[in-house]
Amino acid sequence: MAGIYIHIPYCKKICAYCDFYKVISKDNHTEFIKAIIKESQTRNNYLGDEPVSTIYFGGGTPSVISLDEINKILESIFKFYRIDNDPEITIEINPDDADPDYLKGLYNLKINRISLGIQSWRDTDLKILNRRHNAAQAEKAMNDTFTAGFSNVTMDLIYGIPGLSSESWAEILDKTFLFPIKHLSAYHLTVEPGTVFGKMKEKGLFKEIDEEESASQFNILIEKAEKEGFIHYEISNFGLEGFFSKHNTNYWKQVKYLGLGPSAHSFNNYSRQWNVKNVTAYINAVNNNKTFFAGEELSTKTKFNEYIMTSLRTMWGIDMDFVETTFDKEGYDYIMNLAGKYKGYGLMREENKNLVLTNQGKMISDNIISEFMMPDNE
Ligand SMILES: C[S@@+](CC[C@H](N)C(=O)[O-])C[C@H]1O[C@@H](n2cnc3c(N)ncnc32)[C@H](O)[C@@H]1O
Repeated sequence: MAGIYIHIPYCKKICAYCDFYKVISKDNHTEFIKAIIKESQTRNNYLGDEPVSTIYFGGGTPSVISLDEINKILESIFKFYRIDNDPEITIEINPDDADPDYLKGLYNLKINRISLGIQSWRDTDLKILNRRHNAAQAEKAMNDTFTAGFSNVTMDLIYGIPGLSSESWAEILDKTFLFPIKHLSAYHLTVEPGTVFGKMKEKGLFKEIDEEESASQFNILIEKAEKEGFIHYEISNFGLEGFFSKHNTNYWKQVKYLGLGPSAHSFNNYSRQWNVKNVTAYINAVNNNKTFFAGEELSTKTKFNEYIMTSLRTMWGIDMDFVETTFDKEGYDYIMNLAGKYKGYGLMREENKNLVLTNQGKMISDNIISEFMMPDNE
């Protein structure tokens, strides 16, 4: 089993929080599509013989490229890789790109999972985030997505936005669950250096919400999602049974993936590679058969830390049998020691030899995870 990620870096407007690689100008996008297609052909041995079960168009904003361009990329992938019978094919859509004809076209291209970047149902939040859609467009996009025939629909929300109260967040969630979505990604706003919010924060112009309010919003999210039958399978992800994101779950379960496009990462159990974070440099290098990615062989310690970082965020947690067989006794003992402390605090529990975070633990997951990381000098 393996996955393919395609990074489409174009955006019509830059969101104030976004730290992903993106560019505003679409001038070179025809060359870019050709480069993606060429990359898909030249790197088709990276995944070995592994059948591809998920394909994911992310960004940036994948919905700014045409149906014909998406079709050409998919044709190349289907031609140069072994694809499973029923692959999960996801595309991220911005609500104001969700034109009914475009959606119908995606449906006809056999894309079977739509991820809508709704973020909030309140115009005030959308303005603060510098999104290019408003709440009315978001609602229309949701309805049009179902009308086009999609049933496997997920949406992104952001909470912890300055000015968003727990009451308003509860209302956003109530509205969300009126739609027959199968999956929800809800992220606490993080202020990343270099973003508009990051620069405001440096100047003392961005006031983050306090910890108590953050915890309250996270609790509301868990309560409401679980009441609707959604399973909290990763810190920021909730899905109905059978509708977890296969693509992202594979990342968290150390399944191989190939990332196409500028800034995309790849992983094949032995190495990690990352493509140059510049669309022009990427196109030129692909065209001139030059290398456009860097990489590293993964040391045991890196593999250990990556395993902890991803597994602890999920409901499956750290599988101690896996740790015992994959890492040495030192790794096993190291985890068991720390786990004892966190179990005592009620932040962690053991389920059939798996160590998972309790809801209380999930609230401070970043702190717990960083304590589990093996430092470089050990
Ligand atoms: C790859 S982005 C999706 C891009 C897509 N063009 C969009 O914005 O709709 C995936 C999601 O991560 C979330 N996200 C990205 N940066 C974030 C941040 N700094 N804080 C919180 N959530 C963030 C947003 O909900 C976003 O929709």
